[in-house]
Amino acid sequence: MTKDRKLIIAGNWKMNKTVAEAVDLVTTLKRDLADVKEVDMVVCPPFTALCEVSKIILDSNIRLGAQNMNEHPNGAHTGEISAQMLKEFSVRYVILGHSERRADQGETDELIARKAQAAHAAALKPIVCIGETLEQREANETEAVLETQLRGSLAGLTAEQMTETILAYEPVWAIGTGRTATPEQAQEAHRFIRSVLAQMFDDTVARRVRIQYGGSVKPDNARDLMSQPDVDGALVGGASLEARSFTAIIRNSI
Ligand code: PGA
Repeated sequence: MTKDRKLIIAGNWKMNKTVAEAVDLVTTLKRDLADVKEVDMVVCPPFTALCEVSKIILDSNIRLGAQNMNEHPNGAHTGEISAQMLKEFSVRYVILGHSERRADQGETDELIARKAQAAHAAALKPIVCIGETLEQREANETEAVLETQLRGSLAGLTAEQMTETILAYEPVWAIGTGRTATPEQAQEAHRFIRSVLAQMFDDTVARRVRIQYGGSVKPDNARDLMSQPDVDGALVGGASLEARSFTAIIRNSI
């Protein structure tokens, strides 16, 4: 089945890669993926490598993303980075509300919604992450958790902004664990997410929004996941740290 939504595959490098390592990786990706047109490809290096990576991919088919940003435009927020600062490096996307930040930094849906609004105000496309823990899944709370996260993290967005927002469904139990959701589990969650979007916005928005799957995506499971009707891409952690595996994920998804 062909989807009318273009796949978007992003590498979330997390707290990995020195500037030199980042330059190496993205130089290889640029060379090895130069012919790819079917997939929107994004790399999300740590802040410290954005500047150098942005210079390398300037004339390529790879786009730049950041892993977080502050919700304020500027001011007394020590250690924080604003949307405008990201824009200086031609950043187009920003990951918001990753489960590691929800857990480690206590990010709430309400904060993520403010960040998403600030991202749109600066014409950055947010990649808003949602997903249930293992306990929540086992207690049959997956849909309730996803709905709460969606309604909270997307609060205040207009239909137009929502269409320009990417969602990433990342079951927490599948992140960095080697335990991937089955394609059926991913599809079921993605279809549910789309049904909530239809309630919150309308059918057109729900049909247009791209929903990535994230959590132990590897070259050998990418094809089955991406072929699900409501899966529109991937947010890749560990396997995005090496050119060979990230490239294979993209090739296997086309
Ligand atoms: P993983 O991470 O691919 O290493 O499981 C995914 C993510 O956290 O975005």
